[in-house]
Amino acid sequence: MLVIEGGRKLSGEVVISGGKNSALPIMIASLLSEKASHLSKVPRLADTEFLLSLLKSFGAQAELDSQGVALIDPNRINNTLAHYDIVRKMRASVLVLSPLLARMGHAEVSLPGGCAIGTRPVDIHLQGLEQLGAKIEVRDGYIHAKLDRGHFIGAEFRLSLPSVGATESLVMAAVLAHGCTRLTNVAREPEVVDLCEALIIAGARIQGHGSSVIEISGVSSLDGINYCIAPDRVEAGTFIALAAATKSPLTLKSVDLADLANVIERFEHAGLEFRAGDINQYGIGDLAIIPADILLATDMETAPHPGFPTDTQAQFMAAMTLAQGESTIHERIFENRMMHVPELCRMGADIVVHHGMAKVRGQKALLGAPVMATDLRASASLVIAGLAAQGKTEIRRVYHLDRGYEALDKKLESLGAAIKRCHQE
Ligand code: UD1
Repeated sequence: MLVIEGGRKLSGEVVISGGKNSALPIMIASLLSEKASHLSKVPRLADTEFLLSLLKSFGAQAELDSQGVALIDPNRINNTLAHYDIVRKMRASVLVLSPLLARMGHAEVSLPGGCAIGTRPVDIHLQGLEQLGAKIEVRDGYIHAKLDRGHFIGAEFRLSLPSVGATESLVMAAVLAHGCTRLTNVAREPEVVDLCEALIIAGARIQGHGSSVIEISGVSSLDGINYCIAPDRVEAGTFIALAAATKSPLTLKSVDLADLANVIERFEHAGLEFRAGDINQYGIGDLAIIPADILLATDMETAPHPGFPTDTQAQFMAAMTLAQGESTIHERIFENRMMHVPELCRMGADIVVHHGMAKVRGQKALLGAPVMATDLRASASLVIAGLAAQGKTEIRRVYHLDRGYEALDKKLESLGAAIKRCHQE
Protein backbone atom coordinates (compact mmCIF):
# COMPACT_ATOMS: atom_id res chain seq x y z
CA MET A 1 0.00 0.00 0.00
CA LEU A 2 0.95 3.65 -0.30
CA VAL A 3 1.04 5.88 2.75
CA ILE A 4 0.75 9.59 2.04
CA GLU A 5 1.08 12.55 4.40
CA GLY A 6 -1.00 15.10 2.54
CA GLY A 7 -1.47 18.83 2.59
CA ARG A 8 1.93 19.81 1.17
CA LYS A 9 2.46 22.02 -1.82
CA LEU A 10 4.56 20.32 -4.48
CA SER A 11 6.84 21.92 -7.03
CA GLY A 12 9.34 21.07 -9.72
CA GLU A 13 9.65 19.23 -13.01
CA VAL A 14 8.51 15.76 -13.91
CA VAL A 15 9.33 13.78 -17.05
CA ILE A 16 6.27 12.13 -18.59
CA SER A 17 6.83 8.49 -19.59
CA GLY A 18 5.92 6.82 -22.87
CA GLY A 19 2.22 5.97 -23.04
CA LYS A 20 1.03 2.58 -21.79
CA ASN A 21 -1.92 2.57 -24.17
CA SER A 22 0.39 3.28 -27.13
CA ALA A 23 3.14 0.90 -26.06
CA LEU A 24 0.95 -2.20 -25.60
CA PRO A 25 -0.62 -2.28 -29.10
CA ILE A 26 2.68 -1.38 -30.80
CA MET A 27 4.52 -4.14 -28.92
CA ILE A 28 1.76 -6.51 -30.07
CA ALA A 29 1.99 -5.19 -33.65
CA SER A 30 5.67 -6.26 -33.63
CA LEU A 31 4.33 -9.81 -34.11
CA LEU A 32 3.24 -8.84 -37.65
CA SER A 33 6.82 -8.84 -38.95
CA GLU A 34 9.28 -11.69 -39.17
CA LYS A 35 12.03 -9.21 -38.31
CA ALA A 36 13.02 -7.75 -34.96
CA SER A 37 11.45 -4.50 -33.71
CA HIS A 38 13.12 -1.90 -31.50
CA LEU A 39 10.76 0.35 -29.55
CA SER A 40 12.03 3.19 -27.39
CA LYS A 41 10.31 5.00 -24.50
CA VAL A 42 8.48 1.83 -23.50
CA PRO A 43 7.37 2.40 -19.89
CA ARG A 44 8.37 -0.20 -17.30
CA LEU A 45 5.01 -1.18 -15.84
CA ALA A 46 3.33 -4.32 -14.60
CA ASP A 47 1.32 -4.34 -17.88
CA THR A 48 4.35 -4.06 -20.19
CA GLU A 49 6.24 -6.76 -18.22
CA PHE A 50 3.20 -8.90 -18.46
CA LEU A 51 2.93 -8.43 -22.21
CA LEU A 52 6.61 -9.33 -22.64
CA SER A 53 5.90 -12.68 -20.97
CA LEU A 54 2.86 -13.24 -23.20
CA LEU A 55 4.97 -12.53 -26.31
CA LYS A 56 7.63 -14.94 -25.01
CA SER A 57 4.98 -17.61 -24.54
CA PHE A 58 4.36 -17.44 -28.31
CA GLY A 59 8.06 -18.17 -28.91
CA ALA A 60 9.15 -14.56 -29.55
CA GLN A 61 12.24 -12.99 -28.03
CA ALA A 62 10.96 -10.07 -25.95
CA GLU A 63 13.06 -7.89 -23.63
CA LEU A 64 12.94 -4.42 -22.15
CA ASP A 65 16.28 -2.86 -21.19
CA SER A 66 17.00 -0.33 -18.45
CA GLN A 67 16.83 2.54 -20.99
CA GLY A 68 13.22 1.72 -21.91
CA VAL A 69 14.09 0.08 -25.26
CA ALA A 70 12.09 -3.05 -26.04
CA LEU A 71 13.52 -5.61 -28.43
CA ILE A 72 10.86 -7.91 -29.84
CA ASP A 73 11.90 -10.60 -32.30
CA PRO A 74 8.95 -12.74 -33.37
CA ASN A 75 10.81 -14.70 -36.03
CA ARG A 76 10.38 -18.01 -34.25
CA ILE A 77 6.82 -17.83 -33.00
CA ASN A 78 5.38 -21.32 -32.73
CA ASN A 79 2.46 -21.03 -30.32
CA THR A 80 -0.85 -19.28 -30.97
CA LEU A 81 -2.67 -19.85 -27.68
CA ALA A 82 -3.29 -16.88 -25.35
CA HIS A 83 -4.49 -18.54 -22.17
CA TYR A 84 -7.30 -17.22 -19.94
CA ASP A 85 -4.89 -16.87 -17.01
CA ILE A 86 -3.01 -14.25 -18.98
CA VAL A 87 -5.80 -12.46 -20.88
CA ARG A 88 -8.00 -12.02 -17.79
CA LYS A 89 -5.19 -10.10 -16.09
CA MET A 90 -4.66 -7.68 -18.94
CA ARG A 91 -7.46 -6.99 -21.39
CA ALA A 92 -5.19 -5.50 -24.04
CA SER A 93 -3.82 -9.03 -24.61
CA VAL A 94 -6.89 -9.76 -26.72
CA LEU A 95 -5.24 -7.59 -29.41
CA VAL A 96 -2.82 -10.45 -30.16
CA LEU A 97 -5.62 -12.16 -32.09
CA SER A 98 -5.12 -10.19 -35.33
CA PRO A 99 -1.34 -10.44 -35.67
CA LEU A 100 -1.31 -14.13 -34.69
CA LEU A 101 -3.92 -14.80 -37.37
CA ALA A 102 -2.05 -12.72 -39.95
CA ARG A 103 1.24 -14.50 -39.25
CA MET A 104 0.12 -18.05 -38.49
CA GLY A 105 -3.36 -18.41 -40.07
CA HIS A 106 -4.99 -19.46 -36.81
CA ALA A 107 -5.15 -18.40 -33.15
CA GLU A 108 -6.89 -19.32 -29.92
CA VAL A 109 -7.33 -16.38 -27.58
CA SER A 110 -9.29 -16.33 -24.35
CA LEU A 111 -12.24 -13.96 -24.12
CA PRO A 112 -11.15 -11.23 -21.71
CA GLY A 113 -14.41 -11.09 -19.74
CA GLY A 114 -15.72 -8.04 -17.94
CA CYS A 115 -13.69 -5.83 -15.69
CA ALA A 116 -14.24 -3.44 -12.83
CA ILE A 117 -15.22 -0.50 -15.04
CA GLY A 118 -17.80 -2.26 -17.22
CA THR A 119 -18.75 -5.29 -19.32
CA ARG A 120 -16.33 -4.39 -22.16
CA PRO A 121 -17.32 -6.84 -24.91
CA VAL A 122 -15.13 -7.55 -27.97
CA ASP A 123 -18.01 -8.08 -30.41
CA ILE A 124 -16.88 -5.28 -32.74
CA HIS A 125 -13.36 -6.72 -32.98
CA LEU A 126 -14.81 -10.10 -33.98
CA GLN A 127 -17.40 -8.75 -36.46
CA GLY A 128 -14.67 -6.77 -38.21
CA LEU A 129 -12.24 -9.70 -38.35
CA GLU A 130 -14.99 -11.88 -39.86
CA GLN A 131 -15.60 -9.20 -42.48
CA LEU A 132 -11.89 -9.46 -43.36
CA GLY A 133 -12.21 -13.21 -43.88
CA ALA A 134 -11.62 -14.81 -40.47
CA LYS A 135 -13.72 -17.81 -39.43
CA ILE A 136 -14.47 -17.33 -35.75
CA GLU A 137 -16.08 -19.59 -33.23
CA VAL A 138 -16.46 -18.70 -29.55
CA ARG A 139 -16.58 -21.73 -27.30
CA ASP A 140 -15.32 -22.72 -23.85
CA GLY A 141 -14.54 -19.06 -23.17
CA TYR A 142 -12.06 -18.93 -26.06
CA ILE A 143 -12.06 -17.24 -29.46
CA HIS A 144 -11.03 -19.92 -31.98
CA ALA A 145 -10.14 -18.16 -35.21
CA LYS A 146 -8.64 -19.19 -38.53
CA LEU A 147 -8.05 -17.85 -42.00
CA ASP A 148 -9.08 -20.43 -44.62
CA ARG A 149 -6.85 -18.86 -47.24
CA GLY A 150 -4.02 -18.26 -44.79
CA HIS A 151 -4.37 -14.46 -45.06
CA PHE A 152 -6.90 -11.68 -44.42
CA ILE A 153 -8.84 -10.23 -47.35
CA GLY A 154 -9.32 -6.47 -47.64
CA ALA A 155 -12.92 -5.33 -47.07
CA GLU A 156 -15.15 -2.45 -46.01
CA PHE A 157 -16.31 -2.36 -42.39
CA ARG A 158 -18.19 0.18 -40.32
CA LEU A 159 -17.64 0.00 -36.55
CA SER A 160 -20.92 0.35 -34.63
CA LEU A 161 -18.96 2.32 -31.97
CA PRO A 162 -15.60 4.07 -32.39
CA SER A 163 -13.86 1.53 -30.12
CA VAL A 164 -10.13 2.08 -29.62
CA GLY A 165 -9.34 -1.61 -29.23
CA ALA A 166 -11.48 -2.73 -32.18
CA THR A 167 -9.90 -0.08 -34.43
CA GLU A 168 -6.43 -1.31 -33.41
CA SER A 169 -7.40 -4.97 -34.03
CA LEU A 170 -8.72 -4.21 -37.49
CA VAL A 171 -5.79 -2.02 -38.54
CA MET A 172 -3.42 -4.84 -37.56
CA ALA A 173 -5.51 -7.33 -39.54
CA ALA A 174 -5.67 -5.14 -42.65
CA VAL A 175 -1.99 -4.22 -43.05
CA LEU A 176 -1.04 -7.68 -44.35
CA ALA A 177 -4.41 -8.41 -46.03
CA HIS A 178 -4.71 -9.07 -49.73
CA GLY A 179 -6.35 -5.95 -51.19
CA CYS A 180 -7.66 -2.71 -49.70
CA THR A 181 -9.60 -2.16 -46.50
CA ARG A 182 -11.79 0.81 -45.64
CA LEU A 183 -12.74 1.15 -41.97
CA THR A 184 -15.36 3.76 -41.05
CA ASN A 185 -16.47 5.20 -37.70
CA VAL A 186 -13.04 4.30 -36.31
CA ALA A 187 -11.54 5.67 -33.09
CA ARG A 188 -9.51 8.87 -33.54
CA GLU A 189 -7.54 8.51 -30.29
CA PRO A 190 -3.83 9.47 -30.37
CA GLU A 191 -2.96 5.86 -29.47
CA VAL A 192 -4.56 4.69 -32.75
CA VAL A 193 -2.54 7.32 -34.61
CA ASP A 194 0.62 6.17 -32.84
CA LEU A 195 0.00 2.54 -33.83
CA CYS A 196 -0.60 3.54 -37.47
CA GLU A 197 2.54 5.70 -37.57
CA ALA A 198 4.60 2.84 -36.15
CA LEU A 199 3.21 0.44 -38.76
CA ILE A 200 3.86 2.93 -41.58
CA ILE A 201 7.51 3.10 -40.53
CA ALA A 202 7.60 -0.70 -40.89
CA GLY A 203 6.21 -0.44 -44.45
CA ALA A 204 2.43 -0.53 -43.97
CA ARG A 205 0.26 1.59 -46.28
CA ILE A 206 -2.27 3.42 -44.12
CA GLN A 207 -4.14 6.68 -44.67
CA GLY A 208 -6.67 8.68 -42.69
CA HIS A 209 -5.59 7.73 -39.14
CA GLY A 210 -6.69 10.46 -36.76
CA SER A 211 -9.93 10.90 -38.76
CA SER A 212 -12.99 8.60 -38.64
CA VAL A 213 -12.09 6.76 -41.85
CA ILE A 214 -8.92 4.70 -42.20
CA GLU A 215 -7.90 3.20 -45.55
CA ILE A 216 -5.28 0.50 -45.75
CA SER A 217 -3.67 -1.16 -48.79
CA GLY A 218 -2.35 -4.53 -47.73
CA VAL A 219 1.37 -5.26 -48.26
CA SER A 220 2.99 -8.69 -48.47
CA SER A 221 5.36 -8.24 -45.52
CA LEU A 222 6.51 -5.69 -42.96
CA ASP A 223 9.91 -4.69 -41.65
CA GLY A 224 10.63 -4.55 -37.95
CA ILE A 225 9.18 -1.51 -36.19
CA ASN A 226 11.75 1.08 -35.08
CA TYR A 227 9.70 3.61 -33.21
CA CYS A 228 9.61 5.92 -30.21
CA ILE A 229 6.39 5.61 -28.18
CA ALA A 230 4.46 8.90 -27.77
CA PRO A 231 4.22 10.48 -24.30
CA ASP A 232 1.48 9.27 -21.96
CA ARG A 233 -1.38 11.78 -22.15
CA VAL A 234 -3.14 10.10 -19.22
CA GLU A 235 -0.09 10.46 -16.99
CA ALA A 236 0.20 14.11 -18.06
CA GLY A 237 -3.52 14.65 -17.29
CA THR A 238 -2.99 13.03 -13.89
CA PHE A 239 -0.23 15.52 -13.01
CA ILE A 240 -2.38 18.44 -14.20
CA ALA A 241 -5.20 17.30 -11.90
CA LEU A 242 -2.65 16.92 -9.09
CA ALA A 243 -1.34 20.46 -9.65
CA ALA A 244 -4.94 21.74 -9.54
CA ALA A 245 -5.89 19.88 -6.35
CA THR A 246 -2.71 20.69 -4.41
CA LYS A 247 -2.26 24.21 -5.89
CA SER A 248 1.25 23.26 -6.98
CA PRO A 249 3.27 24.84 -9.79
CA LEU A 250 4.57 21.89 -11.81
CA THR A 251 6.33 21.61 -15.15
CA LEU A 252 5.69 18.54 -17.25
CA LYS A 253 8.61 17.60 -19.49
CA SER A 254 7.95 15.81 -22.76
CA VAL A 255 4.22 16.04 -23.38
CA ASP A 256 2.24 16.14 -26.62
CA LEU A 257 0.24 19.34 -26.29
CA ALA A 258 -2.22 18.60 -29.10
CA ASP A 259 -3.25 15.34 -27.41
CA LEU A 260 -4.02 17.22 -24.19
CA ALA A 261 -6.11 20.03 -25.71
CA ASN A 262 -9.42 19.04 -24.16
CA VAL A 263 -7.96 18.36 -20.71
CA ILE A 264 -6.12 21.69 -20.74
CA GLU A 265 -9.29 23.50 -21.85
CA ARG A 266 -11.34 22.10 -18.91
CA PHE A 267 -8.63 22.93 -16.37
CA GLU A 268 -8.29 26.45 -17.82
CA HIS A 269 -12.01 26.79 -17.23
CA ALA A 270 -11.33 25.80 -13.60
CA GLY A 271 -8.80 28.66 -13.32
CA LEU A 272 -5.42 27.07 -14.12
CA GLU A 273 -2.97 28.68 -16.53
CA PHE A 274 -0.60 26.83 -18.84
CA ARG A 275 2.60 27.85 -20.62
CA ALA A 276 4.12 25.69 -23.32
CA GLY A 277 7.82 25.75 -24.19
CA ASP A 278 10.65 24.03 -26.09
CA ILE A 279 8.30 22.33 -28.53
CA ASN A 280 10.07 20.12 -31.07
CA GLN A 281 9.10 19.29 -34.68
CA TYR A 282 6.80 16.49 -33.45
CA GLY A 283 4.79 18.85 -31.22
CA ILE A 284 6.40 17.45 -28.06
CA GLY A 285 7.59 19.92 -25.43
CA ASP A 286 7.26 21.19 -21.88
CA LEU A 287 4.12 22.38 -20.16
CA ALA A 288 4.29 24.69 -17.15
CA ILE A 289 1.17 24.58 -14.97
CA ILE A 290 0.26 27.65 -12.92
CA PRO A 291 -2.31 26.62 -10.32
CA ALA A 292 -5.43 28.66 -9.52
CA ASP A 293 -5.65 30.49 -6.16
CA ILE A 294 -9.30 29.57 -6.18
CA LEU A 295 -10.16 26.42 -8.13
CA LEU A 296 -13.55 26.85 -9.81
CA ALA A 297 -16.17 24.11 -10.20
CA THR A 298 -16.23 22.95 -13.83
CA ASP A 299 -18.58 20.57 -15.63
CA MET A 300 -17.14 17.80 -17.77
CA GLU A 301 -18.34 14.86 -19.79
CA THR A 302 -16.17 12.12 -21.21
CA ALA A 303 -16.34 11.39 -24.92
CA PRO A 304 -14.33 9.64 -27.63
CA HIS A 305 -11.32 11.67 -28.79
CA PRO A 306 -11.08 14.66 -29.25
CA GLY A 307 -13.46 14.79 -26.26
CA PHE A 308 -12.38 14.58 -22.63
CA PRO A 309 -10.74 11.14 -22.07
CA THR A 310 -12.49 8.66 -19.80
CA ASP A 311 -9.03 7.69 -18.50
CA THR A 312 -8.70 11.14 -16.88
CA GLN A 313 -12.22 11.38 -15.46
CA ALA A 314 -11.44 10.08 -11.96
CA GLN A 315 -8.43 12.40 -11.59
CA PHE A 316 -10.49 15.40 -12.76
CA MET A 317 -13.13 14.51 -10.20
CA ALA A 318 -10.55 14.34 -7.40
CA ALA A 319 -9.57 17.94 -8.24
CA MET A 320 -13.20 19.09 -8.39
CA THR A 321 -13.87 17.80 -4.86
CA LEU A 322 -11.82 20.84 -3.76
CA ALA A 323 -13.28 23.41 -6.19
CA GLN A 324 -15.52 26.32 -5.29
CA GLY A 325 -19.09 25.42 -6.32
CA GLU A 326 -20.79 22.37 -7.81
CA SER A 327 -19.49 20.44 -10.85
CA THR A 328 -21.37 17.88 -12.92
CA ILE A 329 -19.23 15.06 -14.28
CA HIS A 330 -20.79 12.68 -16.79
CA GLU A 331 -19.08 9.37 -17.68
CA ARG A 332 -20.32 8.38 -21.15
CA ILE A 333 -17.84 5.67 -22.22
CA PHE A 334 -17.90 3.02 -19.48
CA GLU A 335 -21.03 2.22 -17.47
CA ASN A 336 -19.32 1.54 -14.14
CA ARG A 337 -16.43 3.94 -13.92
CA MET A 338 -17.34 5.75 -10.70
CA MET A 339 -15.88 3.34 -8.18
CA HIS A 340 -13.57 6.02 -6.85
CA VAL A 341 -16.61 7.98 -5.61
CA PRO A 342 -17.27 6.11 -2.35
CA GLU A 343 -13.55 6.18 -1.58
CA LEU A 344 -13.29 9.93 -2.23
CA CYS A 345 -16.36 10.38 0.00
CA ARG A 346 -14.50 8.56 2.82
CA MET A 347 -12.03 11.44 2.63
CA GLY A 348 -14.75 14.06 3.02
CA ALA A 349 -15.76 14.65 -0.61
CA ASP A 350 -19.43 15.40 -1.29
CA ILE A 351 -20.39 13.47 -4.44
CA VAL A 352 -23.73 12.00 -5.47
CA VAL A 353 -23.95 9.72 -8.53
CA HIS A 354 -27.05 9.07 -10.57
CA HIS A 355 -26.98 7.16 -13.91
CA GLY A 356 -23.28 7.75 -14.58
CA MET A 357 -23.59 11.43 -13.71
CA ALA A 358 -21.78 12.74 -10.62
CA LYS A 359 -22.69 15.95 -8.81
CA VAL A 360 -19.58 17.09 -6.97
CA ARG A 361 -20.01 19.76 -4.35
CA GLY A 362 -16.57 21.24 -3.72
CA GLN A 363 -15.25 21.26 -0.13
CA LYS A 364 -12.74 23.51 1.60
CA ALA A 365 -10.58 20.52 2.50
CA LEU A 366 -10.37 16.72 2.38
CA LEU A 367 -9.21 14.60 5.32
CA GLY A 368 -6.83 11.65 5.00
CA ALA A 369 -8.35 8.19 5.45
CA PRO A 370 -7.67 4.53 4.68
CA VAL A 371 -9.02 3.84 1.18
CA MET A 372 -9.02 1.04 -1.39
CA ALA A 373 -7.91 1.29 -5.01
CA THR A 374 -10.39 -0.42 -7.35
CA ASP A 375 -8.95 0.14 -10.82
CA LEU A 376 -6.03 1.87 -12.44
CA ARG A 377 -7.34 5.41 -12.91
CA ALA A 378 -9.45 5.29 -9.74
CA SER A 379 -6.19 4.63 -7.87
CA ALA A 380 -4.64 7.74 -9.41
CA SER A 381 -7.59 9.84 -8.19
CA LEU A 382 -7.00 8.56 -4.64
CA VAL A 383 -3.32 9.49 -4.81
CA ILE A 384 -4.32 13.03 -5.87
CA ALA A 385 -6.91 13.28 -3.09
CA GLY A 386 -4.43 11.88 -0.55
CA LEU A 387 -1.77 14.42 -1.50
CA ALA A 388 -4.28 17.26 -1.25
CA ALA A 389 -5.91 16.07 2.00
CA GLN A 390 -4.94 17.04 5.53
CA GLY A 391 -3.28 14.16 7.39
CA LYS A 392 -2.51 10.56 6.54
CA THR A 393 -4.03 8.51 3.71
CA GLU A 394 -3.35 4.82 3.22
CA ILE A 395 -4.16 3.47 -0.25
CA ARG A 396 -4.51 -0.28 -0.41
CA ARG A 397 -4.25 -2.49 -3.52
CA VAL A 398 -1.78 -0.21 -5.27
CA TYR A 399 -0.96 -2.99 -7.72
CA HIS A 400 -3.65 -1.34 -9.83
CA LEU A 401 -1.49 1.79 -9.95
CA ASP A 402 1.62 -0.18 -10.87
CA ARG A 403 -0.15 -1.50 -13.96
CA GLY A 404 -0.15 1.91 -15.59
CA TYR A 405 2.10 4.50 -13.92
CA GLU A 406 5.87 4.27 -14.22
CA ALA A 407 7.62 4.96 -10.89
CA LEU A 408 4.81 7.26 -9.75
CA ASP A 409 5.84 7.30 -6.09
CA LYS A 410 9.44 8.19 -7.07
CA LYS A 411 8.26 10.98 -9.35
CA LEU A 412 6.00 12.37 -6.61
CA GLU A 413 8.78 12.21 -4.03
CA SER A 414 11.01 14.24 -6.33
CA LEU A 415 8.30 16.94 -6.34
CA GLY A 416 8.31 17.05 -2.53
CA ALA A 417 5.49 14.64 -1.70
CA ALA A 418 5.59 12.61 1.52
CA ILE A 419 4.70 9.23 0.06
CA LYS A 420 6.00 5.79 0.91
CA ARG A 421 5.31 2.23 -0.07
CA CYS A 422 4.60 -0.22 2.76
CA HIS A 423 3.61 -3.85 3.00
CA GLN A 424 -0.07 -4.19 3.74
CA GLU A 425 -0.66 -5.94 7.05
C1 UD1 B 1 -8.94 1.67 -24.56
C2 UD1 B 1 -7.91 1.94 -23.51
C3 UD1 B 1 -8.59 2.36 -22.24
C4 UD1 B 1 -9.51 3.53 -22.49
C5 UD1 B 1 -10.46 3.23 -23.64
C6 UD1 B 1 -11.33 4.43 -24.07
C7 UD1 B 1 -6.03 0.46 -23.98
C8 UD1 B 1 -5.26 -0.74 -23.55
N1 UD1 B 1 -7.14 0.74 -23.27
O1 UD1 B 1 -9.74 0.59 -24.07
O2 UD1 B 1 -7.57 2.71 -21.29
O3 UD1 B 1 -10.28 3.76 -21.31
O4 UD1 B 1 -9.72 2.82 -24.79
O5 UD1 B 1 -10.54 5.48 -24.49
O6 UD1 B 1 -5.66 1.18 -24.89
N2 UD1 B 1 -17.09 -1.74 -26.94
C9 UD1 B 1 -18.04 -2.63 -27.40
N3 UD1 B 1 -17.64 -3.65 -28.22
C10 UD1 B 1 -16.33 -3.82 -28.60
C11 UD1 B 1 -15.37 -2.91 -28.11
C12 UD1 B 1 -15.77 -1.88 -27.28
O7 UD1 B 1 -19.21 -2.52 -27.08
O8 UD1 B 1 -16.03 -4.78 -29.35
C13 UD1 B 1 -17.49 -0.63 -26.02
C14 UD1 B 1 -16.88 -0.78 -24.63
O9 UD1 B 1 -17.63 -1.63 -23.80
C15 UD1 B 1 -16.87 0.65 -24.13
C16 UD1 B 1 -16.61 1.45 -25.42
O10 UD1 B 1 -16.94 0.60 -26.51
O11 UD1 B 1 -18.13 1.01 -23.61
C17 UD1 B 1 -15.18 1.94 -25.57
O12 UD1 B 1 -14.31 0.84 -25.52
P1 UD1 B 1 -12.92 0.82 -26.30
O13 UD1 B 1 -12.71 2.13 -26.98
O14 UD1 B 1 -12.82 -0.43 -27.09
O15 UD1 B 1 -11.91 0.74 -25.11
P2 UD1 B 1 -10.70 -0.23 -25.02
O16 UD1 B 1 -10.02 -0.36 -26.35
O17 UD1 B 1 -11.12 -1.47 -24.28
